[in-house]
Amino acid sequence: VDKPIGVFDSGIGGLTVVKEIVKALPNESLVFIGDTARVPYGTRGKAVITQFALELATTLLERDVKYLVAACNTISSTCLAEVRAVSPVPVLGVVDPAVQTALKQTRSGRIGMIGTRATVASGFYEQQIRELEPSVSVMSVACPLFVPLAEEGLSAAQATRLIAADYLAPFADSEIDVLVLGCTHYPILRDVIQQAIGESVVLVDSARPTAETLAAELEEAGLGSEGPAAYELLVTDAPERVHQVASDFFGRELPGALRQTSLGRLPGPGPRD
Ligand code: DGL
Repeated sequence: VDKPIGVFDSGIGGLTVVKEIVKALPNESLVFIGDTARVPYGTRGKAVITQFALELATTLLERDVKYLVAACNTISSTCLAEVRAVSPVPVLGVVDPAVQTALKQTRSGRIGMIGTRATVASGFYEQQIRELEPSVSVMSVACPLFVPLAEEGLSAAQATRLIAADYLAPFADSEIDVLVLGCTHYPILRDVIQQAIGESVVLVDSARPTAETLAAELEEAGLGSEGPAAYELLVTDAPERVHQVASDFFGRELPGALRQTSLGRLPGPGPRD
């Protein structure tokens, strides 16, 4: 099936997920859209995040994608059900794959999760973990400053170490043995986070588990493509300004130029003719 996979994110952090999808599924074409005009979503409320996410999904559906991936923990935690409700194609979020991996890794039955304010406020990680494994406890902490620090390339800065130590201090007596990096940006800060939380805690991020889940689901649905892959990388503002950070998140030069796009309109009541 030669239709592309549609991947969307509040900004360009989702490229940490795209990177793993490209690795796991080298024959699959992708359309990525990052809402650089309105990032961050993680500081906003559910109604606004939902509206923005539906606009991104609509834009991708207009491009006839065969699958949607919400490569954003904030969207995946707050409004995946709403996106699924309007999508004729399957929608995969990043939370479930991360949760499955975290549950496989924990021995102590205590899992930590860090993410944006909206992700933590949603309680979605706790809910998913409770559903699968009621005996496992979860402690979540919001780390809002990690997003701008990652975007500013400050992953090795002293300031970032101090902030990480403060943010992660509440986990000190928690006996967690797994910490979920519940935000697309956090893999960029992996070393600082590992140092602050201690070497004995296993870090789990959603990028690779999401790519692996997507590969399995495509195969199961008979939706795999033989290639060759083509990539379309879209943002809603300032492609030149975000190019460098986008490459950093992708881990190497992007497989195509970032281009600017406007968003599709939501179906529903609008001005009448
Ligand atoms: N992509 C978001 C996430 O994974 C981080 C950036 C934002 O707050 O929009 O939660």
